[in-house]
Amino acid sequence: MAENLSPVVPEALGFGRHFTDRMFTHSFTEENGWENPTIGPYHELTLDPAAAALHCGQMVFDGTKAYRRPDGDLNLFRVDRNVARLNSSAARMGMPAIDERLHTEAIETLVSLEHRWIPKIDNASLYIRPVVVATEPVLEVRASRSYLHYIIVSPVGPYFPDGFNPISVFVSHDNVRAVRGGTGEAKTPGNYAASIAVSEAAREKGCQQVLWLDAVERRYIDEVGAMNIAFVYGGNEIRTPPLSGAILHGVTRDSVLRLAPDLGFVMHETPMTIDDVWRDIENGEITEAFGMGTAAVIAPVGGLIYHDREATLNRGETGPVARRLYDELTRIQYGRAPDPYGWTTVVRVESDEHSSAIR
Ligand code: COI
Repeated sequence: MAENLSPVVPEALGFGRHFTDRMFTHSFTEENGWENPTIGPYHELTLDPAAAALHCGQMVFDGTKAYRRPDGDLNLFRVDRNVARLNSSAARMGMPAIDERLHTEAIETLVSLEHRWIPKIDNASLYIRPVVVATEPVLEVRASRSYLHYIIVSPVGPYFPDGFNPISVFVSHDNVRAVRGGTGEAKTPGNYAASIAVSEAAREKGCQQVLWLDAVERRYIDEVGAMNIAFVYGGNEIRTPPLSGAILHGVTRDSVLRLAPDLGFVMHETPMTIDDVWRDIENGEITEAFGMGTAAVIAPVGGLIYHDREATLNRGETGPVARRLYDELTRIQYGRAPDPYGWTTVVRVESDEHSSAIR
């Protein structure tokens, strides 16, 4: 493999703070549909101050990653799922669908051109962020008649500054993230914006993430931060809440559902209340908990705060189930182990080019 060519100093990597020097753009008008798919230099956007996205929030995004394989080429992981999810998010927000083949081709071309940005350190990858934004200058509350679809790429390290280490979690008992029938299943900025004030308050209590309860009864466990959540019972049974309509269809969650039984774990999708979970942590039935998401992959949970009560999981250390799933998933993602599930697509790395229309 080539020497480290990344212009980013690995220590300064963080998550989503640096961006490569190219991006993909593609625009939509009611008259012409989608047109002009282009990969060109990374650039600032010119948006009319009245652009619908800036007022009504008609906008969606997604996230997937490219991983450096031992042979120097790249692996994309279940990119078909991310593209399909981008379109379901768009449908929920009243936005036009994008051509999934074109979008995938854009990602493949972009990462093959930008591969040198992945620093040669463990756990680095290229985080790929597709966005679709309503651009029509209109203050009426209705679907925009024009859109911009773009993809940017960020060389990233672990999502949490402490890497693969337990996080502590604040259980939000009054504020909620999403309601069934709302937009919780869609990757739309409003869901994330709604989490920010609570996350900041949680940080003041020493917690890195918020555990969200359902919006109707405020009892059922939904998600942790921007991740799906799972609890381990008795060291080998993994339980995660079912996709209720308020929970994002996580690609990592789906991969754990498929992978865990092959590793000998019993896997269940089942509703769980915070009271039952708290009781089962206290009586020792729950041995571990972890979040699942593209950014962090698996994030072990070391402790929880709920009202004025605190609970510790696995002595505040990373548990063996979270460790095993993290190792197995990342081995497949980085191409260090065979992929019996057909989840990875190999992208050959390309030589440098400045700008290319991809169709
Ligand atoms: C993920 O882990 O997939 C996320 O959605 C996190 C992202 C919003 C940074």
